[in-house]
Amino acid sequence: MDRAELGSRALFPDLAAGAYLNHGGISPPSLPVRNAVTRVMEDYARLGTGAIHHRIEERERLRGKLAGLIGAEQGSDIGFVQNTTRGATDVALCMPWRAGERVLCMTGDFPANVTPWQCAAELFELDLTFLPQPTASTLDAWLETLARELQRPTRLLAVSTVMFQSGLRLPTDRIGALCAAAGTELFVDAIQACGVVPVDVRRDGIDYLTCGGHKWMMGLEGAGFLYVAPKRVSRLEPRVAGWLGHEDALAFLFLGPGHLRHDRPLLRRASLVEGGAQSSVGYAALEAALDLLQGAGIEKIHAHVNRYIDALEPELVARGFASERSADPAARSGIFSVTPPRGIDVVALFRAIDPARVALTIPDGRLRFAPHWPNHTDEIKTVLAAVDGALAAVRK
Ligand SMILES: Cc1ncc(COP(=O)(O)O)c(C=O)c1O
Repeated sequence: MDRAELGSRALFPDLAAGAYLNHGGISPPSLPVRNAVTRVMEDYARLGTGAIHHRIEERERLRGKLAGLIGAEQGSDIGFVQNTTRGATDVALCMPWRAGERVLCMTGDFPANVTPWQCAAELFELDLTFLPQPTASTLDAWLETLARELQRPTRLLAVSTVMFQSGLRLPTDRIGALCAAAGTELFVDAIQACGVVPVDVRRDGIDYLTCGGHKWMMGLEGAGFLYVAPKRVSRLEPRVAGWLGHEDALAFLFLGPGHLRHDRPLLRRASLVEGGAQSSVGYAALEAALDLLQGAGIEKIHAHVNRYIDALEPELVARGFASERSADPAARSGIFSVTPPRGIDVVALFRAIDPARVALTIPDGRLRFAPHWPNHTDEIKTVLAAVDGALAAVRK
């Protein structure tokens, strides 16, 4: 059986860049992920519709594994959604809103966790308020601001567990406690956390969690998941339900006449949001990727990537870059971001970095390094050579 050996790229034989540091963007698929996709394709190639029974079994198994990853009680708390946005949209559309209710979201958050709330605010006449975005140095003050804001009746708080620009990991345990005390529901976008940062929805009192599969989970685009806390699910309005959202939805296809009815009760679990046919290859990829992550252990992966960042950070600071990393290990993720030395334009610098040496990106004007379990500190000399070459080219 394949396993993830921390610091080894053996399962990524085709990866072009000397150092692939863009797991906060899209992760390359490992060999087990590629093999899982091929197996599904071959199954459909042989059996056509007959292959769907295997997929149904696999998907139920995957629900249980995802529940384990995030500390959920059971697989039925997990629904499959295409991406992070879709999970937010489904909750935003299905909440039993009353006009005038207040929703808090965050300035500078990734738009996937803002646009759905803006749309819901328009549709349901909600009061959408923006909190400022915390940084490593303002996090305590930000928590005080949040506590003050929650003194006003607030239906829902929507935040990302890890800031996509700075990599700051929010203390979802403290946020969850504030929300619980205020009677506010907590929605989190966890795509920059799941797979690299331990997540525990029950410990933290998270009501809803959405996550795409293509970043730290190391699956594919188009196959993510949504968690809905059991106490919330029965109150959701089934506004996005589709044909697979009913009890015994498949009965009319396989059990003969008399089963095609349009009055079957709607599901009262997270899979209510699934609608119709799902990405079979996407979920096969997600399961294979998750098996590798779980085999290595999320705590160990978090420690591994932070050892890598520990080695890289002082080198960049010595070159005049400003680090946005928190001094508090509990507030760190897999993302390490810097802003360039004075007088250096981040876009020009990024364009001058040799992509054959290092793959990274510049979201919201930061140079973002995002290593995962296959990265090894031996690569850091290649990263620094690429950065030095780019600095010299831009300064010329
Ligand atoms: C915090 C955050 N949320 C969401 C996304 C992406 O959303 P989706 O999965 O809907 O494409 C990203 C990055 O692409 C992100 O950094």
